[in-house]
Amino acid sequence: MGLTIKEILEKEIFAREDIISLLQSEGEDRTLLFKKSAEIKEKYIGNKVWFRGLIEFSNICSKDCLYCGIRKGNINLTRYNLSDEEILVAAKFAYDNRYGSIALQSGELESSFVTGRIKNLLHKIKELSDGELGVTLSVGEQEPDVYRKWYDAGAHRYLLRVESTNQTLYNKIHPNDSKHDFNHRLNCLKSLQDIGYQTGTGVMIGLPFQTMDDLAGDLLFMKKFDIDMCGMGPYIEHADTPLIKHSEKLMPLKDRFDLTLKMIAIIRIMMRDINIVAATALQAIDPIGREKAVKIGANILMPNITPGKYRDSYKLYDNKPCTDDSAEDCQSCLEARVSLADAEVIYGEWGDSKHYHLRRRQAPGDGHQIMN
Ligand code: 5AD
Ligand code: FES
Repeated sequence: MGLTIKEILEKEIFAREDIISLLQSEGEDRTLLFKKSAEIKEKYIGNKVWFRGLIEFSNICSKDCLYCGIRKGNINLTRYNLSDEEILVAAKFAYDNRYGSIALQSGELESSFVTGRIKNLLHKIKELSDGELGVTLSVGEQEPDVYRKWYDAGAHRYLLRVESTNQTLYNKIHPNDSKHDFNHRLNCLKSLQDIGYQTGTGVMIGLPFQTMDDLAGDLLFMKKFDIDMCGMGPYIEHADTPLIKHSEKLMPLKDRFDLTLKMIAIIRIMMRDINIVAATALQAIDPIGREKAVKIGANILMPNITPGKYRDSYKLYDNKPCTDDSAEDCQSCLEARVSLADAEVIYGEWGDSKHYHLRRRQAPGDGHQIMN
């Protein structure tokens, strides 16, 4: 007989089978899981949420990920690239509204032009905010010296989702060529961490072919890699992508949503003080999906501050929410939502991952007991 959920939740370290049992928990067991993760969040983070103003500055992408709506091969899409001026106006909006930081996200492009452009934008963003606005980058795989240049120019966090840590599954959801190489993605994550970024990764949940064992492996990877930030969301099919042909293999959306909440709860328990994003994709399934994630463990929300006219074109998946709203709409809507989740938005702070600062102070292997 295996352990009960209650016994598993009392353990210091989860084994793979424990995680699988937690992912499969139902009814009262599921409630126990969420109760535990909410307690851990309260203890190590408090009932707080930080905003990252999200600027999706371009949907031009050189990659062809089989699930992604802005993949290079999708011709049913208007491509855009915000001007520097538009990006800086959005950053100024974030600063004026006391968001501690912004996230610059785009499709993946590698070129000396992009390297220089982002470097220049980082300088300008620091300038317009007296050095106060924090910047997260999420612009894909790049060479280490490019990551280094951007770090030196003021970016301090980087999000690069590994999408799945099972290489076989990774290869099923990406073209099998050198541009979509699993090991290269891992190497990129490693160099981000080595350079000194607060490093974030995550996976999609409910992908075709994905098993509970894969998801347990993803969480174990994140713990072993010692990430500082986690952004995971449900996979949502997009009609204009190759992966749509496997739709009949998918679990219902509601179950993908539920599994995402469980993944968030488990990683909160496993890693305690990291930053966890309540992904927008949760809201594509449940109108109060992000609030539910905040209740059980997430502490970061990313209000979209991309100028409204472009939002419709940054559709990674179908039914993406908030594409008709303005930045002001997103802010007041999210603020009301956060108070619904009995949490409080903290303004004017970067909201760094505590984990990052402790990790940098501690010798490896010391664990996180310092927080007690
Ligand atoms: N469903 C859910 N998330 C998706 N992403 C891309 N396509 C989809 C989809 N169809 C996520 C990927 C990527 C992030 C920017 O968006 O995880 O890293
Ligand atoms: Fe490029 Fe999705 S394939 S961001």
